[in-house]
Amino acid sequence: MILEIRTPIFYVIVKNESNNMIKPDEFLAFLKGRRSIRNFQDNPVTEDHIQMILEAGRWAPSGSNRQPWEFIVVKNRDILKKISKTGVYGLPLRNAPLGIAIVGKKLENPNWYIQDTSLVSMNMMLMAWALNIGMCWIGSMDREYAKGLFHLGKDDFLLTILAMGYIKGNIPKPTLRKSLDEITKIVK
Ligand SMILES: Cc1cc2nc3c(=O)[nH]c(=O)nc-3n(C[C@H](O)[C@H](O)[C@H](O)COP(=O)(O)O)c2cc1C
Repeated sequence: MILEIRTPIFYVIVKNESNNMIKPDEFLAFLKGRRSIRNFQDNPVTEDHIQMILEAGRWAPSGSNRQPWEFIVVKNRDILKKISKTGVYGLPLRNAPLGIAIVGKKLENPNWYIQDTSLVSMNMMLMAWALNIGMCWIGSMDREYAKGLFHLGKDDFLLTILAMGYIKGNIPKPTLRKSLDEITKIVK
């Protein structure tokens, strides 16, 4: 098949055998099976696993390929606990041996830094799940407080801190989703 690679500067076409590295039905089952995990074992996430998750984030798409982001790997549980107490739904951070903060650099892609960093978070989330690492996207926190702890500036956007760790206990039951009928319109 033909693969198109675009950057703002040049546009090349290269040939590739196939992009079907994963069977579509298996991939869909993988997506459906992912759950937010809020209880974690105490043991640290291995360096190899952390690197894989960061690498997955690094390969997220971004507007004009600007990659306006930074990742902060937080292994300090006291810091995670402090931040968890600033949000009503911050509990997973209190239980987690690892947090990965995703920071958008507003000035590097002013129109798209939120979308760009959101895509990073999804890549990381799926990589973690593939590694049997539990994780939860945390939005519930005092961002200004957390930014202060990480010495971030006014043009830094703290999207989330992903709470992570090896799964403790059972994987929660599937969460509900709206039906496709409810959320899809067809334009003919
Ligand atoms: C933008 C966003 C913010 C979220 N914030 C929190 C949070 O602060 N605390 C929490 O426990 N879960 C949080 N979640 C996780 C959602 O509650 C969870 O994804 C949703 O209930 C669906 O469950 P599932 O991920 O297991 O499919 C957040 C998820 C997203 C996408």
